[in-house]
Amino acid sequence: MSNENAARRDGFGTRAVHAGLDPDPVYGSVIPPIHQTSTYAQARPGEFFEDYDYARSANPTRAALERALGDLESGTAVSFSSGLAAEHALLTVACETGSHVVMPADLYGGTYRLVDKVMSRWGLRYDLVDQTDLAALERAVTDETRLIWVETPTNPRLSVVDIAAVVARKRNALVAVDNTFATPVNQVPIELGADFTVHSATKYLGGHSDVVGGVVVARDEQWYEQLRFIQNAGGAVPGPFDCFLVHRGLRTLHLRMEAHARSAAAVVEMLRTIPDVSEIAWPGFSGMVSFRHPRAAEIATATRLFTLAESLGGVESLIELPQAMTHQSVEGSTAAVPADLVRLSCGVEDPADLVADLHQALSG
Ligand SMILES: Cc1ncc(COP(=O)(O)O)c(C=O)c1O
Repeated sequence: MSNENAARRDGFGTRAVHAGLDPDPVYGSVIPPIHQTSTYAQARPGEFFEDYDYARSANPTRAALERALGDLESGTAVSFSSGLAAEHALLTVACETGSHVVMPADLYGGTYRLVDKVMSRWGLRYDLVDQTDLAALERAVTDETRLIWVETPTNPRLSVVDIAAVVARKRNALVAVDNTFATPVNQVPIELGADFTVHSATKYLGGHSDVVGGVVVARDEQWYEQLRFIQNAGGAVPGPFDCFLVHRGLRTLHLRMEAHARSAAAVVEMLRTIPDVSEIAWPGFSGMVSFRHPRAAEIATATRLFTLAESLGGVESLIELPQAMTHQSVEGSTAAVPADLVRLSCGVEDPADLVADLHQALSG
């Protein structure tokens, strides 16, 4: 390889297809085997290959996925059994009793529940702030703030937060970004100055609604080591087959994200023509769209191609009502969402079919 080639970083699509994957050295299979094992044979007590002594501690299929995720998110990745397990590990590593965390005022309900109902019992203190209001963010962040948790675009209102502007106002805090809705196709938070990137891999990374998983990507080695430690000590590890599925999903991420955005653009164009539809939100990328409509519940049960279901980011389109479904846990808090809000995850079907389906549901 010439020096010029060695120094050059491949484009995102190339890395998405190849990252973490080397052919199996024994049989040459282009896709390495799924190491579906709980343990590893040792030649003598305590003598084993690399760090492969027990599968909670290490697994080659998981390691391959982590190499790929680290490459795509410009850091070092540690994977978990769900997005919330990843969040829990990150909060556990970054914070201690009494730590102050600044959370977004619009956020995934499960993240709020984890902080409000679980971590606060261990002394975590938090404030909810609209992070698109940088003056409000500045007021909320003090010298004692340990962590600023960013979600962008936010779930479910799809507000876009300026990550670099948050980093510029962080004082002594660490910055973690939930990149589930944007994916590294659209933004790489660590390259914008964040310390951590978190994903529900259940969503766009996996991309096919057939796996639950999570990941934390750390910018610094010191944090990576601590996350690896908690991965083993806490034990919320993903299984080998789940790792394989997420890794396979990653290989088409760039193509899917383009198709999701095409579908969303077509749907938004149609929504703008419907008189009773208000507050249409789409960040201009990704497949997530939200809007308000007085007959929200009726619409959500009248679609044929959009399945009424929680979750998002799969190749098939989904529709849901956050207030009644994914965001029950924020009810009564300042992060509560209106009952007439509809959230769409636009899939990769033919956009014209999605538009027709939603249009008939809105006209019903
Ligand atoms: C933005 C966001 N972050 C985190 C999570 C939690 O991920 P998981 O369901 O994989 O635990 C979700 C789940 O919907 C989410 O939407």
